[in-house]
Amino acid sequence: MNLKHLISMRDLSRADIHQILDTASSFKDVLKRDIKKVPALRGKTVVNLFYEPSTRTRTSFEIAEKRLSTDVVNFAVSSSSVTKGESLFDTIKNIEAYGVDFVVVRHASSGVPNFIAEHMDVSVINAGDGMNEHPTQALLDAFTIRDHKGSFEGLEVAIVGDIIHSRVARSDMIGLLMLGSQVRFVGPPTLLPPQPPPGVRMYYSLEEGLTGVDVIIMLRIQMERMNKSFFPTTADYFSHWGLTKERLARARKDAIVMHPGPMNRGIEISSDVADGPQNVILQQVTNGLAVRMSVLYHLSGGEYHA
Ligand code: NCD
Repeated sequence: MNLKHLISMRDLSRADIHQILDTASSFKDVLKRDIKKVPALRGKTVVNLFYEPSTRTRTSFEIAEKRLSTDVVNFAVSSSSVTKGESLFDTIKNIEAYGVDFVVVRHASSGVPNFIAEHMDVSVINAGDGMNEHPTQALLDAFTIRDHKGSFEGLEVAIVGDIIHSRVARSDMIGLLMLGSQVRFVGPPTLLPPQPPPGVRMYYSLEEGLTGVDVIIMLRIQMERMNKSFFPTTADYFSHWGLTKERLARARKDAIVMHPGPMNRGIEISSDVADGPQNVILQQVTNGLAVRMSVLYHLSGGEYHA
């Protein structure tokens, strides 16, 4: 795989995705060992540049980097000179001056990872840019789906809720279509695109949208990206669009329930489903670590053998 950056799922071929998932499986085994560290990226430096809040993505990138023996710098935006008005351009040029190898970036504006890749001589990993993409989330979702379902061909996957504001939905859609799954967008018309993207079916009823699906990916209402109200109240949203046990019964018996987190229980999902037997939500979190190790490893040239 000859890849310098991972900014969009479109940067990857179907074979690349499978290769990243295969390597992630080997790293998952490494993570079960007594000593969970490999020297694959020793001597490299990674800067984690998170301009937006994050729990899972930031933590798992940092642990992944440490498991690969890189030097890690966490750039804390709130205590940096960004608060004194330093521009993104000047900030990244200063970081570049230290000779770092990777920048992992999350930003509220779409396109920031591309901007950094254009102006800085480093490998860039997109950890979520605005409403655009979140490729490592799509890869860990694919890993989790493959783990449970064996393959992607013919699987019916429902992505449910606030699709238009979701970078997870976009990256999942691109990846899953490439891998041969059937993708449905399910939600209220105000939170779905006006036209379905090529290859996607849209459902404006949760009951219909869940019927017969193998995989359900629930999304949070991303209030921080809304400048007006897209539904009356959160209680009203839950009554129409919340995933409950009764609604889950519409899906296949062996369907899995996924969520990228952070979850808002009682808004898009009920606690009995979030903690129920079909949920694989914490497995996604565990898999995120191995998948991010794999991405860093492949972007650095992929020469070490675990
Ligand atoms: C998502 C994100 O930040 O895009 N979370 C994540 O990375 N696991 C989804 C969200 O914020 O709702």
